[in-house]
Amino acid sequence: MRVFVAGATGAIGRPLVRQLIEGGHQVIGTTRSAAKAERLAEAGATPVVLDAFDVPALRRAVLEAEPEVVVHQLTALSAPLNPRKYGQWLAQTNRLRQEITPVLVQAAEEAGAERLVAQNVSFLLAPRGPWVQDETAPLWHDAPSALRGAVAACEALERATLGSARLAGVVLRYGFFYGPGTSYAHNGQITEMVRRRRYPVVGKGTAHYSFIHVEDAAEATVVAARGGQPGVYNVVDDEPAPLSQWLPWLAERLGARPPRRVPAWLARLAVGPHAVMLGEGQRGNSNAKAKDELGWVPRRPSWRQGLAEAPAGESAPAANATRAA
Ligand SMILES: NC(=O)c1ccc[n+]([C@@H]2O[C@H](COP(=O)([O-])OP(=O)(O)OC[C@H]3O[C@@H](n4cnc5c(N)ncnc54)[C@H](OP(=O)(O)O)[C@@H]3O)[C@@H](O)[C@H]2O)c1
Repeated sequence: MRVFVAGATGAIGRPLVRQLIEGGHQVIGTTRSAAKAERLAEAGATPVVLDAFDVPALRRAVLEAEPEVVVHQLTALSAPLNPRKYGQWLAQTNRLRQEITPVLVQAAEEAGAERLVAQNVSFLLAPRGPWVQDETAPLWHDAPSALRGAVAACEALERATLGSARLAGVVLRYGFFYGPGTSYAHNGQITEMVRRRRYPVVGKGTAHYSFIHVEDAAEATVVAARGGQPGVYNVVDDEPAPLSQWLPWLAERLGARPPRRVPAWLARLAVGPHAVMLGEGQRGNSNAKAKDELGWVPRRPSWRQGLAEAPAGESAPAANATRAA
């Protein structure tokens, strides 16, 4: 199978490219950077250097690749997150989802591809109803302004992916990534905040988080690239967990002091209404559909098996050392 991976160098792109190549597939992968293009070539992929907002270049690259499958893994989330500027932090990713997905769909159709698999997130659901929800749950259309653009972009991505008459469109709604290269890695931004006690439990901490290791997310993507019915699938682990559970667990595991507690009214005032959602309202997700219909099962069924884990051979920074710094 020939696979064009748009965004082949990120937290999901790297394990995805590796797993596709290990599975005997040919990979054409994009990056904006010559250095990362070299790493793609070393991994066995054919690199294409382009900026996705250069639409003619992106279209040409897809046509020249003659792929059977196009995978959309473009996001722009590597800048450090300032929770007060959440909307700004998401803006470029929103554009990649809203403006670039239709370009990829059209190019894939023109190139004669059979399938397009697109990355989305599982956690932009309306904060109402059961704590764990499936793919039929409504998106959060009346979200606070910091998140409204993200909801609109995710919806646009799904419409474009599923709307093609010529392609089998598959949307994978990944949970919160953890593992190498993510903000929950042993050296990631959120892990560091937890070490320094700068990631609080907001309000009652009832918000549910569905996590997924990037290796598992990549594996689900390979499965969806190979086949399965078009549609939307949650790609999350088996254990959606409230913030009040996983955050103290993580702090303890890191040898840090327990997280601070911040009342919801204070979080709203200091950060914005989206902070209350991330502390009290967010829903977790069921992976039953991906298991039943794609036959995919996460190898790490729980975030307890690797959140903030240091890769073999590397030791995690000690909480005391970080506090002293
Ligand atoms: N579900 C989730 O929880 C989720 C989903 C996505 C990301 N994240 C988190 O966000 C953080 C950053 O993610 P990341 O490491 O994957 O990096 P990223 O900066 O979000 O980039 C992802 C991919 O998109 C490409 N890209 C971005 N803008 C582009 C553009 N204008 N044109 C062409 N390609 C473009 C990047 O390529 P180049 O930079 O090589 O050009 C890269 O291959 C990590 O902590 C990750 O865990 C979380």
